[in-house]
Amino acid sequence: MTAQEAYKEFEKRCRELAVIQSSAAVLGWEERTYMPPNGAGLRAEQLSYMSGLFHEKFTDPKFGELLSTVEASDMMKDPESPEAVNIRETRRMYDKQTKLPRELVEELTKTTTLAQGEWVKARKASDFKAFLPWLEKVVKLLKQKAEAYGYEGEPYNALLDDYEPGATVDDVATVFEQLRNDLVDLLGRIKDAKKKPDQGIVNRAFDVDRQKVFGEMVSAAFGFDFQSGRLDITAHPFCSGFGPGDTRITTRYNPNRLTDALFGIMHETGHALYEMGLNKDKYFGLPMGESISLGIHESQSRMWENQVGRSRPFWEYSLPQAKRIFREALEGVSLDDFYGAINYVTPSFIRVEADEATYNLHILLRFELERAIMNDDIPLKDVADEWRKRFKKYFGIEVDNDANGCLQDVHWSAGYIGYFPTYTLGNLYAAQFFAKAKEELPGLEEDIAGGYTGRLLDWLREKIHQQGQRYRATKLCEKVTGKPLSHKPLVDYMNRKFGEIYGI
Ligand code: CO
Repeated sequence: MTAQEAYKEFEKRCRELAVIQSSAAVLGWEERTYMPPNGAGLRAEQLSYMSGLFHEKFTDPKFGELLSTVEASDMMKDPESPEAVNIRETRRMYDKQTKLPRELVEELTKTTTLAQGEWVKARKASDFKAFLPWLEKVVKLLKQKAEAYGYEGEPYNALLDDYEPGATVDDVATVFEQLRNDLVDLLGRIKDAKKKPDQGIVNRAFDVDRQKVFGEMVSAAFGFDFQSGRLDITAHPFCSGFGPGDTRITTRYNPNRLTDALFGIMHETGHALYEMGLNKDKYFGLPMGESISLGIHESQSRMWENQVGRSRPFWEYSLPQAKRIFREALEGVSLDDFYGAINYVTPSFIRVEADEATYNLHILLRFELERAIMNDDIPLKDVADEWRKRFKKYFGIEVDNDANGCLQDVHWSAGYIGYFPTYTLGNLYAAQFFAKAKEELPGLEEDIAGGYTGRLLDWLREKIHQQGQRYRATKLCEKVTGKPLSHKPLVDYMNRKFGEIYGI
């Protein structure tokens, strides 16, 4: 078989794999949106069958041979050519998948499914001791997983690589440390500020049907294509890009607060714009048509949510529209008051409810603990106490119970150690990309104040979305912004923004 023939066969198999995976994604989306409760048993069987089928086809030694044939040819000469990228990134996944013993994969799936159930109960009762044996089981299996993958430096690197390919714990820790120092300083100044916005403006009755209309309007204005996607309701909002022409987002509405659903929709729209912007017509199922990392994915959602959606220019245009839709709730509300209310900063226990300024501290705390856990620096039985200690130090408030502390997130029970840092990486990338976009697109903020965000989307499509997995996240950042990832753009952006709002 020639390299060309092998590549054709490789493409055919990748598309088949993508069809299986996207079918499973439809089932997963439906499970969380419309499935009746009694359908859960059948759905679990359907999904498990699909993932078995995927694994079998993906780890087929014949598939590995196709990769080797192309790798030995001159098709790999230019490492940035679509063919070379597709083979390189598929090889990476193939090696990872085939390194994990089947028993370990099954054991992990079984244990994390049970652990998530036990976590729900433990969180409800705020009982860390009840969850501890499950945490021990999950961590033990994740250590085995790290060993099976192999790693340089710390075992955490092996896990991080699943979510942020190529990132290392040392690089992440360096940027995070610098960010932490500046954040603690900013939060101290905000706490002492004389001027405080009134958050009450957004905590009023907002009709849910009208929230839906307004949310869809904003999403469509950002560029979400409702002929190629839908917005539905779920308890935990998410975005799922099935493939060409079909990307789903979800939200949840709070009748007594405007911001939960609205900024949630902006966030998921940002994820969806990335999915819709990937070149899936040409590269469906191939790395050139897929997102590069969770950190870059999150940078797209955070940019639309924060740099655009929580900006003053955006509300210069959108507040009058919002007032026409929510006449009573927003009557007499000025732009200054509204802008202050949606950017209100206050330390709180729960990560997913945190404001833009405190959010990253929640992540830094989790990252430090996870790293210590994987290095055996903290005995697992002390995790809840360690959490409380660090929380007090960073946020200045005492955690009242473990449901508001180390039991609040699903990640550890689900086996997702190494996932948390991608949230803050996303915020850092978002700020750095947006600063560059402003520089390259003069008048961008005036555009946004006029209700037009199309130039930003075009810029993101060209610089990021259309690149697929051509460059690793760190390299993409350098290509797009001319500089390696730094804490500076995010810190500058926050100092400017909160400095103005809080008069500090
Ligand atoms: Co997100």
